[in-house]
Amino acid sequence: MLASEVTELFRNSPTVLDCTLGGGGHSLALLEAGVQTVVGVDRDPEALAAATTRLHQFATAGRFSAVQSNYAKLDGLSSLEGMRFDGILLDLGISSHQIDDSERGFSFRQGARLDMRMGTDVDVDAAALLNTESESSLTKIFKTFGDEPRAARLSHEIVRRRENKPFETSDDLVGAIRAVLGARSGTAEFARLFQAVRIAVNDELPGLERALPALRDRLNPGGILAVISYHSGEDRIVKHAVRSWSAACICPPRQPTCTCRGRALGVTLTRRALTASHDEVLQNPRARSARLRAWRSAE
Ligand SMILES: C[S@@+](CC[C@H](N)C(=O)[O-])C[C@H]1O[C@@H](n2cnc3c(N)ncnc32)[C@H](O)[C@@H]1O
Repeated sequence: MLASEVTELFRNSPTVLDCTLGGGGHSLALLEAGVQTVVGVDRDPEALAAATTRLHQFATAGRFSAVQSNYAKLDGLSSLEGMRFDGILLDLGISSHQIDDSERGFSFRQGARLDMRMGTDVDVDAAALLNTESESSLTKIFKTFGDEPRAARLSHEIVRRRENKPFETSDDLVGAIRAVLGARSGTAEFARLFQAVRIAVNDELPGLERALPALRDRLNPGGILAVISYHSGEDRIVKHAVRSWSAACICPPRQPTCTCRGRALGVTLTRRALTASHDEVLQNPRARSARLRAWRSAE
C-alpha cells in the first residue's frame, strides 16, 4: 500500500527497519530502490517465512534479515540490541494473505473459526475473548474499536447467546450482529465489528501507543518514521505522537514557565496524512482507508 510514497520517503535512508514485514512488498520495493539494508519484523511466523523466501536473494547478499517479534517488544531482543536505523516503517493491520487464509479466522466467511491471533505471542483467541470478557469490556471494545452506537446491546446479546452455546465460528458472531443491527446488516458492519474484535485480541492500539516512542528512539539523527494506518484509532495515536514530538514545548498550557525538554525532537513531514491515489484504490479497495504519516528526527 502506498509503495511509491514509502520508497520516496526512504530514498536516502541506507538502513530501514520494516516493523510489519507481511508479504515483504514494501521491503522488496525499498531494496530494489537502493536502500542498502532492511531488517524485517513480523509477529506472524507464516508471514515471516513467506517474505524470507521472497527476499532470499537480498538475504544472501547480506542486505535483508528477518526477525519474528511483536514490534512493541523489540527492546528485549538481543538480535536488535543497540541497532539504530535511518528509516522505520509500520504498515499496520493484517495482510491480505492473513485475511484470505480462513484457518486464521480473521474473516467473516461462513464457518471460519474465530481465531484472529496475529502471532504466537497472543494467547487468547477471538472465541475465548468473546466467551470470557465481561459485558462492559465487550461494550468498550465495540464502542472504542468499532465505533458501534449499539455496542451495549451487542455485548448484551453476545453474553446472552454464549450462555447457551459458546462462540466458536464467524457464524456465531455474525448471528449476534444480525440480531442487534437487523437482518439488513451486511459486509460493512461485519468488517467493522470483526476488526474491533481483532484489534482487542492482538492488543493493537495500546501496543502501537507503547511502541512509537521506543521506535522513535531507534532512529539515527535525521531518520524517518513512517506509519500507514487503516483505522481511525490508529491514525489518531500516530497523529498525536508526531505532533507532540514536533512541538518545542509540551508543558501544560497554563504553566507559567517551561520545565519540559524545551526543544522539538523533530519535524512532521506530512501536515495532513497522505492517502492512496485513485488508481491504487481502484486496484485495491482496501487502500481507501490507508493514511500515511511521516516524521523526521532532529539532526
Ligand atoms: C498490512 S500487513 C504488511 C504488509 C507489508 N507492508 C507488505 O508490503 O507486504 C501487516 C503485517 O504486520 C504484522 N503485524 C501487525 N501488528 C504487528 C506487531 N505488533 N508486531 C509485528 N508485526 C505486526 C501482521 O502480522 C502483518 O503481516
